[in-house]
Amino acid sequence: MAGKVIIGAQWGDEGKAKIIDILSEKADVVVRSQGGNNAGHTVAVDNEVYKFHLVPSGILYPGTLCIVGNGVVIDPEGILGEIGMLHDRGISTDNLKISLRAHLVMPYHKVLDGIKEKHRGDESIGTTKKGIGPCYMDKVERSGVRVCDLLNPEVFEEKVRRNVEIKNAMITKVYGSTDTVDADEIIKNYMAYTKALKQYFADTTVLVHEAIESGKNVVFEGAQGTLLDIDLGTYPYVTSSHPITGGVCVGSGIGPTKIDECIGVMKGYVTRVGKGPFPTELFDETGDQIRNVGHEFGTTTGRPRRCGWFDAVIGKFAVRTSGLTAIALNKIDVLADIDKVKICVAYRKDGEIIPEFPASLEELAKCEPVYEELEGWGQIDHIRTYDELPETVKKYIARVEELCGAKVTMIGVGPNRDQNIYR
Ligand code: GDP
Ligand code: IMO
Ligand code: MG
Repeated sequence: MAGKVIIGAQWGDEGKAKIIDILSEKADVVVRSQGGNNAGHTVAVDNEVYKFHLVPSGILYPGTLCIVGNGVVIDPEGILGEIGMLHDRGISTDNLKISLRAHLVMPYHKVLDGIKEKHRGDESIGTTKKGIGPCYMDKVERSGVRVCDLLNPEVFEEKVRRNVEIKNAMITKVYGSTDTVDADEIIKNYMAYTKALKQYFADTTVLVHEAIESGKNVVFEGAQGTLLDIDLGTYPYVTSSHPITGGVCVGSGIGPTKIDECIGVMKGYVTRVGKGPFPTELFDETGDQIRNVGHEFGTTTGRPRRCGWFDAVIGKFAVRTSGLTAIALNKIDVLADIDKVKICVAYRKDGEIIPEFPASLEELAKCEPVYEELEGWGQIDHIRTYDELPETVKKYIARVEELCGAKVTMIGVGPNRDQNIYR
């Protein structure tokens, strides 16, 4: 048994954490390999709800090693808050490891995220303002500060001072803001965070490698989703990392030969937080119904999520770009009591059928969804086996499989751990 990758196959919030939590029962290791605390991952167990942002969603199982890999950007204050929340609820973090190679989100990244969004005006992306984009910018520009730097105070201090000088000049001279940051304060705070976090630091590439080589069950937890991928998503309305399966190798330090299953998580409809095109978006009562029944409000920012019909053009795109071997289809229960359920099977532009997801946003903006209507179903949240599902749900699932090109092997009928049907 080698690695199993779980990614978001839409615009994020597909219920990845629920799937990770379910798989974690049998997993030895859970690894996050990209994104930061822009992610909001919800796990519901009995009457308890846990919201994770950086800590892998496998942490609720005491025996599971939870790794925050080198491709993740880490806000130390954020992860300490999560660790504190877990301790308060009696959950151990002894099995948590944080990569020495991961980049640190610094206070100036958060300031710049906010300022840049304001500066974009009508063209703003609608980021989570967690500093994610500016942090990945520094990483690629080769001026970033990494976890390993925290263990060498002289190097850390020098890097912070150099960065602060440039960032403050940008904040004041380019953007005309007075929101400057103070190097001494950052150094003091980050040294305090280091004291609390040091025990978790490790060369996680070695840990992942050893686990795979010794036949352990390793699960990779995706954050965000396919259409938020910096290369393959709806650029520039994307995040700054690689949420597709390809990102896992780079972000955790393994080769593609170590992955043998790639599961894409989808919802029975589509949601999006933040700005950017969304062909099947609903602006009517059905959209409101889906938002209210599905509790579609951001886990990280609380923003209402935009809701729309299932889009098989996106599904097919995700299967292709991530080499998905299976689909986990969540939140089918949310569509209960809708008379006719729609699936977008293609786009139409200027009278012409567009079968594949377009690269250009201008082209995408002109695309009209081509819908197929299927019969709806009643309440299904009590059902636990595939055979018991209404025929209309089975038909819906079969159509999703046919259009996207991968088998649906898990079906979500509610937020709880046990509200999942294996097939
Ligand atoms: P993630 O970011 O992909 O992990 O997803 P989020 O946690 O942001 O959002 C998914 C939401 O849907 C959470 O509130 C989950 O508890 C909930 N959820 C997950 N699967 C299901 C399901 O099958 N049915 C219902 N009704 N809710 C679900
Ligand atoms: P999970 O892991 C949904 C969106 C933001 C914004 C865009 C860029 O919970 O699925 P960023 O702060 O990353 O620079 O914002 O990406 N976004 C998400 N949307 N789920 C997420 O994570 C997201 N993480 C970022 O809303 O549109
Ligand atoms: Mg989420």
